[in-house]
Amino acid sequence: MPFHSPLATRHSSFVIRRSPFQFPHLCTMKNILITGASSGIGAASARMLHAKGYKLGLMARSTDKLNVLAAELGERCLVLTCDVTRYEEVQSSVQQFVDVFGQIDVLINNAGLGYFDTLVGGKIEEWHTMVDVNVKGVLNCLHVALPSLIEARGHVINLGSLASHQVFPNSGVYCATKHALIAISDSIRLELPDKLRVTTISPGSVDTPFINSTSNAQMLDQYKDYFAAGLRPEMIAQQILHAIEASAGGVISEIIIRPNRSMK
Ligand SMILES: NC(=O)c1ccc[n+]([C@@H]2O[C@H](COP(=O)([O-])OP(=O)(O)OC[C@H]3O[C@@H](n4cnc5c(N)ncnc54)[C@H](OP(=O)(O)O)[C@@H]3O)[C@@H](O)[C@H]2O)c1
Repeated sequence: MPFHSPLATRHSSFVIRRSPFQFPHLCTMKNILITGASSGIGAASARMLHAKGYKLGLMARSTDKLNVLAAELGERCLVLTCDVTRYEEVQSSVQQFVDVFGQIDVLINNAGLGYFDTLVGGKIEEWHTMVDVNVKGVLNCLHVALPSLIEARGHVINLGSLASHQVFPNSGVYCATKHALIAISDSIRLELPDKLRVTTISPGSVDTPFINSTSNAQMLDQYKDYFAAGLRPEMIAQQILHAIEASAGGVISEIIIRPNRSMK
């Protein structure tokens, strides 16, 4: 049920910085590459951005889900089956995107996952996977896409989390990976202030399949309702759209958005 979020019932906060240079081409930005487009926030963002006329590269591992989404959206969509932890797959997907659309104007680093568990007893494979997808996957995409993004004077949007700013129990490694995204965003801003815009979107809990990755049954039981009562993914998509379409005179560098728990 996209586009049904009652905005008035949600909290959001924005950090807007003055842009050190103008982006005269901003209104013509058209080509957006979204990682993790097969589900949740990525799929909701794809729907909203497509409705606004953007051309989309839909990246994820689940080709079937991407094909269903692309069929729903119609033209201006490119399905790119890709595991972001595999550098060669990222290279091939980005190349396909550039071959079809010419350049990348916006990269949305959204693919990510979290396993809730305690540190003691936590599974090392799950720790590695979180680092591989949430950090190395973002770095893989940046490494491959930066030349095209710079040429386009483009925009990088990184999906952080409240866990980029706070540490929560039972998700220490996830929090570490999301803290890393702030460092990545800040380093882009510091090194390329006149070449790229960068935005970190940091939501609290969002009602997506995200929590279903958790293999610890007790943790799943503990957190499932909490996520189900979270923000709707369309609300995050709306913030992404807002960051992309913000005025040429400033860059929205950070958006923190929390569920309004007082609305129960
Ligand atoms: N839900 C929340 O409460 C919440 C809160 C704050 C931030 N976030 C962040 O928001 C982002 C999206 O999460 P979501 O809530 O929308 O979760 P979701 O519904 O589970 O979607 C996760 C997406 O990531 C993709 N993905 C996972 N591993 C991948 C890999 N190795 N290569 C490529 N794609 C991969 C998945 O696609 P495939 O499985 O098809 O590859 C899927 O499209 C994540 O970065 C998450 O950390 C979520």
